[in-house]
Amino acid sequence: MQADSFTDIHSHILPGADDGSGSMEQTLKMLLIAKQQRIKTIIATPHYVCGANNKQVARLLEIKEQVQKEAVKFDREFRIFLGNELYYSEDILEALNTGKALTLAGSRYALIEFPAGETYQTLYRGLGEFILAGYAPILAHVERYRCLKEEEERIEEIIKLGAYIQINSGSLLGGFLNREAAYHRKLVKKGLIHFIASDCHDTDYRPPQMEDTFKTVLKCIDNRLVNQIFLDNPAKILENKYI
Ligand SMILES: [Fe+2]
Repeated sequence: MQADSFTDIHSHILPGADDGSGSMEQTLKMLLIAKQQRIKTIIATPHYVCGANNKQVARLLEIKEQVQKEAVKFDREFRIFLGNELYYSEDILEALNTGKALTLAGSRYALIEFPAGETYQTLYRGLGEFILAGYAPILAHVERYRCLKEEEERIEEIIKLGAYIQINSGSLLGGFLNREAAYHRKLVKKGLIHFIASDCHDTDYRPPQMEDTFKTVLKCIDNRLVNQIFLDNPAKILENKYI
């Protein structure tokens, strides 16, 4: 299987928008890496934390447009969309409903993160609130939560609830001696992962990575499933259709 290009649905590529890229210069370097990794569509997802000093949507749109202009200089097919990575709190739904915080690329899909030490009950209930409100919640970087470590039944339960699961592309890389990476690949193999995205913040520690992970999972995971995760599911977000 050979994908033409990838969509990265979780990235901190907008300069000065959060703890990701700190400047347009760094953003351009990240875009160059993205191009090398065959990423052509990027949903920028700056953090949104209720009560914090979040950039207003209008300002984020301006920054996104500036990045889009620069991106097409690298590759005419580059497309940048806007969203937020929503930090879960009691009032986050209100921020979303009132348009202060954003879903992914104007779709029904909302990218949500919880504190790493959050209880399973809160995580489950929180995702349920989004579903009840008519959103399609995507749990960001599933590998980060202590309550889900080695708890595949819980991940299954969250999926049954109607939520979707994202894992960071870097978390799947590593040889067979890397037990964590091997375990993460097992989650993909079992069909418990809907999205693989970079969660890129910079050019070194957390770069925009996709091609490397694609090649790695292709070696050990069914082609049809890889196709779904890398191509079909991200396309569903952009088309605003349910998976
Ligand atoms: Fe993130």
